[in-house]
Amino acid sequence: MIRIKWLEGPDDLTDAYRVRFQVFVKEQNVPPELEIDDMDKIARHILVYMNSSPIGTGRLFVQDGKCYLGRIAVLREYRKQHIGTLIVKSLLQKAFNSGIDEVHIHAQIWVQDFYKKLGFIPYGKPFYEAGIEHISMVAYRPDSQDNSNSLLNETL
Ligand SMILES: CC(C)(COP(=O)(O)OP(=O)(O)OC[C@H]1O[C@@H](n2cnc3c(N)ncnc32)[C@H](O)[C@@H]1OP(=O)(O)O)[C@@H](O)C(=O)NCCC(=O)NCCS
Repeated sequence: MIRIKWLEGPDDLTDAYRVRFQVFVKEQNVPPELEIDDMDKIARHILVYMNSSPIGTGRLFVQDGKCYLGRIAVLREYRKQHIGTLIVKSLLQKAFNSGIDEVHIHAQIWVQDFYKKLGFIPYGKPFYEAGIEHISMVAYRPDSQDNSNSLLNETL
């Protein structure tokens, strides 16, 4: 059975780290010291469990007035079963329900089509983070006004 759990920064994030270390550190060779950062303390974290095992995670936080979604990870054996979609949609809903108009992500280039399917639009030039090529993307609240100006501001 699939179950969702929400955590705050001060909570015990062991289950989120278990998934993230498996996916980002072991699978993608991200240095372990980069995997946990200060944003974890202020973020809201989503955990997806299959029965009692954590199989997916992601986080949402505001930095310098901008809302970011990130650390989206699903264990390899559970991919292509729409768990990633569940995580991203849940995080977006959480952000939009709290009045946020736009949500940004630094997406790994190879995965941008996954985010495009969920309404994200790429902007700016590709850049490297943790040795992996990324692109900035943004998703707008469906009823938010004046999207074009907002995207323009981010692009400039
Ligand atoms: C990216 C990731 C979270 C996707 O999770 P997932 O549970 O496999 O994704 P879903 O099953 O919800 O996929 C939704 C759709 O996106 C597509 N998709 C999934 N991964 C994709 C990828 N890498 N590139 C292009 N499309 C992709 C799926 O085929 C599916 O398409 P459909 O709706 O037409 O069937 C997962 O592959 C993962 O954890 N990757 C390693 C960590 C990572 O790179 N995270 C991203 C950091 S920016």
